[in-house]
Amino acid sequence: MRALITGADGQLGRALQDALADDDVVALRRADCDVTHEPSVVAAVLDHAPEVVLHAAALTDPEACAADPDAAWQVNALGAWWVARACALAGARLVHVSTAEVFDGWAGRPLTEFDPPRPLTTLGRTKEAGEQLVRQSLADHCIVRTSWLQGDREQGPVGAVLRQAREHGTVEADDDVSGALTLAADLAPALRQVAVAGRAGTYHRSGAGHATGVELAHAVLAHAGLTATVTPRPRAELAEPAPPFAVLDDRLPRLLGLPPLPHWRDAVRRALEA
Ligand SMILES: NC(=O)c1ccc[n+]([C@@H]2O[C@H](COP(=O)([O-])OP(=O)(O)OC[C@H]3O[C@@H](n4cnc5c(N)ncnc54)[C@H](OP(=O)(O)O)[C@@H]3O)[C@@H](O)[C@H]2O)c1
Repeated sequence: MRALITGADGQLGRALQDALADDDVVALRRADCDVTHEPSVVAAVLDHAPEVVLHAAALTDPEACAADPDAAWQVNALGAWWVARACALAGARLVHVSTAEVFDGWAGRPLTEFDPPRPLTTLGRTKEAGEQLVRQSLADHCIVRTSWLQGDREQGPVGAVLRQAREHGTVEADDDVSGALTLAADLAPALRQVAVAGRAGTYHRSGAGHATGVELAHAVLAHAGLTATVTPRPRAELAEPAPPFAVLDDRLPRLLGLPPLPHWRDAVRRALEA
């Protein structure tokens, strides 16, 4: 498969390069192709003529998105639009990565691909707009939503807990926000699978089970053999309160007979061993 990866220096971008090691891959970092610049995106996709574009570039930090909404709209919404339009011009399939933050999380149950999005945050609104622009611009698209992505040990939610524990001896964690830790190393081959199958649509692919931020912090500390106090932080204290239960039900992959991604506790253990 000839593939082009955006956001190649990110957690997922790196995992995708590993998962596609036997494919013919062009991996573009921000310096190679700024997805907010439409001509650069079109040129990159036309030059490399991939069969599939895996679009992993995004602004993913909720606080940064809240602090600079225009930047979040430029990257997460317009960037997705330019990538989808470039795929349409080049005749390429697009695997577009999105997030559980497109939901408000008030249903109190895992959300399927058939639940209506209702984002609460700038991150969620811009990612949901990106999804809409992809659907409107390109028939041959697969949108894959995931949650609480975890790359190497020092990155993602696990890295955040380790840093706070080492530097302060205390870890602030949400006690009224739940999600499922998803290893980028598990998601990447699942994205390749979606790309190869090529059934246009929206899919959920996230770690099995779910935990609050506090439960996750305790699990990380226990597996890492670290002692630190875990201080619960209510979501109301966030600049933009996160969805309380943005847990994904990977219903379509399950109905299609695909195995679930590993449980979040397994993801914690493997992240710490990496
Ligand atoms: N992280 C999560 O918890 C999470 C949860 C759900 C869904 N997702 C989705 O999963 C995907 C991958 O996330 P991730 O965790 O791998 O994110 P990440 O580690 O933050 O990587 C994102 C990459 O995008 C790049 N980027 C940002 N703006 C860009 C621009 N204008 N042009 C080109 N590249 C740009 C960044 O480059 P720089 O390094 O130069 O900034 C970075 O390398 C995203 O679509 C995200 O929305 C993530």
